[in-house]
Amino acid sequence: MKTTIKEVYKHVGEEVTIGAWIANKRSSGKIAFLQLRDGSGFIQGVVVKAEVAEEVFQSAKSVTQETSVYVTGIIREDERSPFGYELGVTGLEVIHEAVDYPITPKNHGTEFLMDNRHLWLRSKKQHAIMKIRNEVIRATYEFFNENGFVKVDPPILTGSAPEGTSELFATKYFDEDAYLSQSGQLYMEAAAMALGKVFSFGPTFRAEKSKTRRHLIEFWMIEPEMAFVEFDDNLKVQEEYVSYIVQAVLRNCKLELGVLDRDVTKLEKIKAPFPRISYDDAIKFLNEKGFDDIKWGDDFGSPHETAIAESYDMPVFITHYPIGIKPFYMQPHPERDDVVLCADLIAPEGYGEIIGGSERVHDFDLLKQRLEEHNLDSDAYKWYLELRQYGSVPHSGFGLGLERTVAWISGTEHVREAIPFPRLLNRLYP
Ligand code: 4AD
Ligand code: MG
Repeated sequence: MKTTIKEVYKHVGEEVTIGAWIANKRSSGKIAFLQLRDGSGFIQGVVVKAEVAEEVFQSAKSVTQETSVYVTGIIREDERSPFGYELGVTGLEVIHEAVDYPITPKNHGTEFLMDNRHLWLRSKKQHAIMKIRNEVIRATYEFFNENGFVKVDPPILTGSAPEGTSELFATKYFDEDAYLSQSGQLYMEAAAMALGKVFSFGPTFRAEKSKTRRHLIEFWMIEPEMAFVEFDDNLKVQEEYVSYIVQAVLRNCKLELGVLDRDVTKLEKIKAPFPRISYDDAIKFLNEKGFDDIKWGDDFGSPHETAIAESYDMPVFITHYPIGIKPFYMQPHPERDDVVLCADLIAPEGYGEIIGGSERVHDFDLLKQRLEEHNLDSDAYKWYLELRQYGSVPHSGFGLGLERTVAWISGTEHVREAIPFPRLLNRLYP
């Protein structure tokens, strides 16, 4: 009977056939060990010369890496394997022979692996990261659906440039200028006025010339937006959400975290509530720590974020940033005109900012004034301003960067491995 590696636990003692690839192989005169993968998982196939037909053993000895096969065998429990099962091979049928597969078990440089990303995805670590990414996405839908949010899909092609054009990809929309979305937020605000609590999940684009382990040109963002929700409650949703996805990965991706040697004790601690530090205190803390390159009014660089994050074993909210370094749509503090009701969530272990969020300006006149202060054209924001003309309400939201979150949870140094086909400053291939 045909099955998949993930399902073999249902067939202990039975003979099954699995469509698989040869991930790796070891053999001697009497026995061959095939590392088999089928996408659903990895299992070792053991071929004993004395127990199989001669051609099966010869085939197992000569089969090359990444050759596709139908392998038949008996499922056995195996305590030594982290997976728990192995396959006592009885038959091996080659489907297609792979000749000179470029990625061998030896070490390759990152650029080589990135050039071969279409094949690199097959390796055990990349497979594990993609499974964790999938679990984060699955748990995201579960969390928001269970908490009364409606999924709304904002457009990717947009006519205006919400936060200035510097980081936008321009394109033509027939005769008009258009841009690829850098955030669905403004549309999600409209959706929140229609549906109350909404979230989006989709690709966003930043034409930023940044070449760091935290920056992608194309990345995926989850953007919840909530009517009648103010600053504090916005942070509560964020900490509950982030705790939920971390706990879901711990529960459902044990094997994958093991493959990646992730220190799970660090993840087990991630439970709401998360600590908060104001921007003012963060600047004081950094100056006391000897960072004399930063003063009130400056934005944090990644060494600053990392230094702050190192004081906690949880993600930390940095709240109330100066109005001058944040976008026009953030609601000013009710008692201070120099800071806004916003927070960034900084992941532990140096993974940087994973969430940016805020309460939004809901007063029409104030929003118009803020647009002018930012030299933005009110005409382009006509529809956005109208949300403040017909039953405007306090509302808040945030954006979580999927790849930075997956990089952190999986313990992967660079965001390029947290997305199947990364778009980087110097990479559009494959
Ligand atoms: O802080 P950002 O720019 O916030 C927004 O776009 C808001 N409009 C979101 C909202 O309130 N709805 O981006 C949000 C998150 C960051 O915290 C980071 O995790 C991720 O998106 N991000 C990136 N991830 C990878 N590569 C990049 N170049 C990123 N830029 C932002
Ligand atoms: Mg940000």
